[in-house]
Formats: sequence, C-alpha cells, structure tokens
Amino acid sequence: MSYVKKIHDLHIVRTCSQDFARVAAESFLGALKDCDTPSPLVTLPTGHTPLGMYEELRTHHANNKALWNRIRYLALDEYADLKPDDPRLFQNWLDRELLTPLSINQDRRTGFRSDAADPEAETRRIEIWLDQNGPIDIAVLGLGTNGHIGFNEPGAVFNHVANLIALSSETRQANAAYWSGLDHVPEKAYTLGLKPILDARKIFLLVSGAHKSAILDKVMNGPITQDIPASMLRTVPNVTVIADKDALEITHG
Ligand code: GLP
Repeated sequence: MSYVKKIHDLHIVRTCSQDFARVAAESFLGALKDCDTPSPLVTLPTGHTPLGMYEELRTHHANNKALWNRIRYLALDEYADLKPDDPRLFQNWLDRELLTPLSINQDRRTGFRSDAADPEAETRRIEIWLDQNGPIDIAVLGLGTNGHIGFNEPGAVFNHVANLIALSSETRQANAAYWSGLDHVPEKAYTLGLKPILDARKIFLLVSGAHKSAILDKVMNGPITQDIPASMLRTVPNVTVIADKDALEITHG
C-alpha cells in the first residue's frame, strides 16, 4: 500500500506460558527506565492478556514508588455510552487492576468520557490533548482475534488519531467473556487511532494463547493491510512482540 514507506522486522520475544507475565512486566519496566521523558506517557490495554503483567507491576510498585510517580496514563480505548460508575468501563477496570494500586492519580490520567454528549467533540478533545501532551512514550497493546489493536477494528484508517467506532460482532463476542454475556457488551467504543499508536516511541504487543496463533501469524507474516490493523505495526521500527509458545505455534510450525 502506498502509505507503507518501509517494512520493519518485529522483534519477537518468545516465552513459555509461565514466564509470560514476568517477561512482559520486565520488558515494560526496562522501557520505562530507558525513557528520558520526565513524565513518561503510557497507554495500556484491558483484556485478559495483561492481567498477569499487572499483578507483577503491582508487586514491583511496593519497592519502586518513585518510578511510578512520574507516569502519565492515556486510555487506549473505552466502551461508549456507559455511566462513569459502570464497572464495565475500561477506565474502571484499569483503575482496579493498576492505576489505583500504582497510585497513578486522576491528575495523571486522561481518557475518553464514555457518556460524552457529543462524540465528535470528545474525539477532538483527545486529539487536541495528544497534540499538546504527546507523543506516547510506551504503548502496550493486546491483540484481538480479528487483528484489532485498541479498538481499531478491521478497516481502520491508519491516519486517524481518535475515533468512535461500531464494534464488530467478533469483538463483541470476544468481549462477552469479560461481562458474562453478549447483552452486556456495548455496541460502540472509543479508541485511539492507529496514528498515535504507531507514533509511540516504544510499542509492546502482548499475545498469549493458542486461540491467537492464527491471527498472530497473519500479523507477522501476512500482507500489511488495514483489514488486519495490527499488521500496520510492521511499518514502524520500535515494536516488540511478547508472545508465549502457544501463540507462536503456527508461526513457528
Ligand atoms: C479487547 C480490547 C483490547 C484488548 C483485546 C484483547 O477488545 N479492546 O484493548 O487488548 O481486545 O483482549 P484479550 O487480552 O482479552 O484477548
């Protein structure tokens, strides 16, 4: 495609399942320590994949509070049309898992307002915020079974900064596991677009489990296409894929 200037190799870190969380946490912490920004801006995923890493980071925080006091957090994605106290909100999920345990207080958090009356103004607000406060220093991403990153679903336009999108049925099905049933999964969501994600100084893609093996193979070895948004990660030089052996079973035969 014309916008692909150069194709880069993804740096692959292969782990066994037991080491996945520790390796992911150590990789993130290493990038954080290497970061020369006074207040590193990070974006982090929800989902099941990073939960072990977050547990490791909570343990790390107990003895390393100074490191965490510098961090600024920007939401990667968020369900739309939920009230601020709804437990399904990704910001509330991350608040429980990481942000409050790590004392990343509200004044260092930025995210989408799920119940914004004017979604266009809301995405514009995030665009302006990023323009004034970006770029992202470290982006940690999960991988959807359809190749989405954040909520950039197949067909996502590469130069968008922030979007409100309709979730695909595949993604809603996958998200049903979080909230005991499809009826509880919102139909729309906000997401950072591919542009600020690809502009991040360092990117980690976390992938675990055999159910991600087919899509990870396409991301790594298939065509670079907006139909598989994560394949766009091969257009930037600073991406590390941390994957367990189950997730790599097709790629590595
Ligand atoms: C969700 C989220 C992503 C997440 C991905 C994978 O829909 N939008 O941020 O990374 O899908 O989730 P899981 O780790 O549960 O497989």
